[in-house]
Amino acid sequence: MKALLLAGGLGTRLRPLTENLPKPMAPVANRPWLEHLILHLKEQGIEQFVIAVKHHADTIRNHFGDGRSLGVEIEYAVERQLMGTAGAIKNAESMLSDRFLVLNADIIHQIQLIPLLDFHAKHGGLVTIGLTEVDDPTQYGVVEQTASGRIVRFVEKPPRHAAPSNRVNAGIYVMEKQALRWIPADRETSIERETFPTLIQQTGRVYGTVIRGYWLDMGTLDRYLQLHRDVLDGRFRAQLPYTKKEPGIWIGRGVRMATDVQLVPPVIIGDDVVLERGCTVGPYAVVGDRAVLGRNVHCSRSVIWPDTRLEVSHDLNGVVVSPHFIADCEPDHNRSTQSVEVLQG
Ligand code: GTP
Repeated sequence: MKALLLAGGLGTRLRPLTENLPKPMAPVANRPWLEHLILHLKEQGIEQFVIAVKHHADTIRNHFGDGRSLGVEIEYAVERQLMGTAGAIKNAESMLSDRFLVLNADIIHQIQLIPLLDFHAKHGGLVTIGLTEVDDPTQYGVVEQTASGRIVRFVEKPPRHAAPSNRVNAGIYVMEKQALRWIPADRETSIERETFPTLIQQTGRVYGTVIRGYWLDMGTLDRYLQLHRDVLDGRFRAQLPYTKKEPGIWIGRGVRMATDVQLVPPVIIGDDVVLERGCTVGPYAVVGDRAVLGRNVHCSRSVIWPDTRLEVSHDLNGVVVSPHFIADCEPDHNRSTQSVEVLQG
């Protein structure tokens, strides 16, 4: 079975970080999330992928090529203009098998596919939507289902007392190719807002089943930082290609560190990182491969992307730093790293 990964969106909620990188390529514990995702699906027997790309398409294509280096086959469905989450599927139609998986490539999860695929085969839907249970359904499109799991409707952001359930679309679907008949070919279309409601109304063959395990939409800075706290706390099990030196301290190869540097667990220091005199790193900090932290940089509850170079004396707390930008949870504070003295390579 093929998996279609939707990876072409603009990632506006993660700007400015997504000015230069597609959101699904954002590093998670120093490896692009899309790579974690492909390897996780490969472990479950999926070896053929189509990636639907648009925003910074070449970054994704150049990174993965034909997939050989990961032991999978990858094709690309490139959009001339943004087609939306359903339009992107329609655009990839000629590359898809009769039954296929669709995954929003910005959803972090480690779900087991077999129960979802079995449910789909048993119920005969055109689409089976993986559902996740949330604490606060008032922020989401919540599903109303029959006892058999058939979805009757989506209720957008219901007040708590009116919510028919706490189950929401997890951004993971099994689809029959026939379902694509209901998606127009020539314009942007949203799967949540248009295709699913149309399919529910016209065919009654949309089902949903709850997927278990870690699930997080990394679409905002808050949640991206939350994800890294979960990695460091072991709630999300990421494979870390680094040595665990002490409890909660992972260090890569070729790290150069001044003798007075303090590492406060939990912390991940990537390969070939340079930490100059007076740096304090952690707790809850991830420093990407080849990053350079100049003298007296203090960094906690933050993620420093690979290849970032920071000059002296920064106090970083609750921020994500890329080679181009420092982004924190208050968008007004987002700033270009140029303005805080980037070391020139
Ligand atoms: P925001 O602008 O912050 O909402 O982000 P987004 O539009 O990139 O992501 P959203 O959560 O809305 O979309 C879910 C997934 O679908 C993400 O992995 C996106 O990359 C992808 N996606 C969204 N729109 C498109 C599109 O028009 N084409 C393709 N190929 N993928 C898309």
